[in-house]
This record gives sequence, structure tokens and C-alpha cells, in this order.
Amino acid sequence: MTNLSKVNETIENYKDSEGALIAILQKVQEAYGYLPKEALERIAQARNISPATLYGIVTFYSQFNLTPRGKHIIKVCHGTACHVTGAERITEAISNTLGIKEKETTQDGKFTLEKVACLGCCSLAPCMMIDKKVYGKLTADKTKKIIKSYRN
Ligand code: FES
Repeated sequence: MTNLSKVNETIENYKDSEGALIAILQKVQEAYGYLPKEALERIAQARNISPATLYGIVTFYSQFNLTPRGKHIIKVCHGTACHVTGAERITEAISNTLGIKEKETTQDGKFTLEKVACLGCCSLAPCMMIDKKVYGKLTADKTKKIIKSYRN
């Protein structure tokens, strides 16, 4: 059972602002790392909307996560420059090393794999970001080594 004190606090902070639903969801996700089911139920009740409507909103925006994310977030760039220089190969190397697909988290909770649009460092393509650090000019081998260095 999720401790909902942060959810209640956020709802209270935004109680006078009409269109604050997205802001509430962002704050709650910031606090928990994702949007737990109980938190969504509580928000729906407080904002007087059905859980189904709220679920529809949450799944529409890719910024929201309904499942816990890993300690390290791996974002593989699939923008044009990275796509043509092998982003698919990089994603595949990570999938094979960690045994997860895009949007999945490893069972030990250490890594989540995501595909993103341009990371803004196209001259380093293909690239990825792990947490806040960017890695460029990747090959499958280099990527595997980097991932392994985070495992230890
Ligand atoms: S396309 Fe990958 S960083 Fe720009």
C-alpha cells in the first residue's frame, strides 16, 4: 500500500487552481518516481473525475509512468542522426545485455530502457544518456561495456 501523504499534500497545494491536473501528476510522479494506482485513484476522487478519464490522460502523455522505473534510466537516442548511424543496434545491444525491451525495467530494479528523440548532440551519434551523462560514438561493444560498468 502506497503512503499517500505526498499525494494529499500536492492535491492540497493545488486545490484552488482549476487546470492544475497535469501539474499535480508531475509533482506526484516526482515524489514517487512513477504514478502508483492508489495515487491516481486519490487524485481522480479529489479532482472529481473518473479513474478511467484520468487513466486516459496519463497514458496520453509519454512523460508519465505507471510502473516503477529503475535506478538508472538509459535513454537511447532514435533521432535522425542516431537512427542512420545505428540506434537500433545500440538498443539491441542493451536489450541483449540486460534482458529487457524498450520501456521495461530489469527485475533487480537497476535499469529502465527508453527510446527518445534527439538528445541534442548529433555530432556524437549514435548516442545515449544514462541518468544525466551522455555517451556518444557508440558501438554495440562499447555500449555493452558502459552498461556493465553501471552494474558493479
Ligand atoms: S539525433 Fe541523436 S543526438 Fe540528435
